[in-house]
Amino acid sequence: MLTLGIETSCDETSCAVLEGLDKVRSNIISSSLFRHKPFGGVVPEIASRHSLEQIDFVFQEALDEAKIKSKDIDLIAVTEGPGLIGSLLVGVSFAKTLAYGLGVPLIGVNHLEAHLSANFIGHKEPAHYVGLLVSGGHTILVYQKKGKSTRLGETVDDAAGEAYDKVAKILGLGFPGGPVIDKLAKEGNPKAFKFTKPKQKGYFDFSFSGIKTAVLYLVEKQDVGAPPRGRPQLLFSGPAQGPAPPLLNSQFVNDVCASFQYAVVAWLVEKTLAAADVKKVADIVVGGGVSANSYLRKRLPEEAAKRGLKVWFPPNRLTTDNAAMIARRGAELFRRGRRSSMKLTGNANLKLG
Ligand code: KG4
Ligand code: ZN
Repeated sequence: MLTLGIETSCDETSCAVLEGLDKVRSNIISSSLFRHKPFGGVVPEIASRHSLEQIDFVFQEALDEAKIKSKDIDLIAVTEGPGLIGSLLVGVSFAKTLAYGLGVPLIGVNHLEAHLSANFIGHKEPAHYVGLLVSGGHTILVYQKKGKSTRLGETVDDAAGEAYDKVAKILGLGFPGGPVIDKLAKEGNPKAFKFTKPKQKGYFDFSFSGIKTAVLYLVEKQDVGAPPRGRPQLLFSGPAQGPAPPLLNSQFVNDVCASFQYAVVAWLVEKTLAAADVKKVADIVVGGGVSANSYLRKRLPEEAAKRGLKVWFPPNRLTTDNAAMIARRGAELFRRGRRSSMKLTGNANLKLG
């Protein structure tokens, strides 16, 4: 069976062809990230226009690379949500038109569940597991059993990736912040600054806005050219790309990156392991852009191994948004009997479960 996956939930436009559940025949991704960089974040209108321009080419390229014709497609899986509504509508409209024209079944996929499914391409999915979803828009702990997700907890404010992006902005490191902070943290002292652990009402909830503010105060306290309170973005806007502004000492920047990353990863690891204990699972599955983080990839398996738990991380190329994971999740749901009707539409706030 050949599944066409379509992903247009944010700044990527992607089409993939998956054979069965395990063989990726093609996975074409056109990113509009370079168009957003000057603005320091994703601009929804630019993202949806990019998808509209690119979707035909990306689809054709996915067919060519998979060496198939459109009539060979058996199933179409498309991201239904959550995400940016303009971008979602491009993918969903394209998928519905194609499914109607080809007379093949259509299935709407939850983008967050698909991030976890990226782990199972070429591997058998565990019967039940705790999933940690960490991206630029979400930080959620879920329990998955027989293809069904139950939410255990989530961030009450910023997502983990969002905190990386905001801290990078405060330090003048450009957008997106995750990869650059991950890199500079390796040159810094993780014990240089201690950040207070946030307390939430929900046992499995997270909070990352406090640490971002703590970093802002640290930067303000630097005596050279420290920006006045409340207006840091004016002094720190600078070029969207490029090195830290010269007014911040590079060792200070590295130490902030290392200490920030140390704290964020410690909090993610602690709650994820607590959830695994409570749900009595043997597997922890991580997905989303932040799953590329080198320190999380080191620390979570180290701590999980002490409890005899296995941790799954997707291959690096599948950590960011891609259509192969959408096809994998769609094919799995199709086997379980799920179908979508032609009433399918984009849902910016689609929930898990
Ligand atoms: O899942 P994703 O590609 O898009 C969303 O759906 O949000 O995640 C993007 C997020 C960004 O916030 C980016 O800074 C973060 O993932 N990210 C990382 C790393 N690589 C990307 N965060 C920490 N460490 C990384 N190595
Ligand atoms: Zn994503």
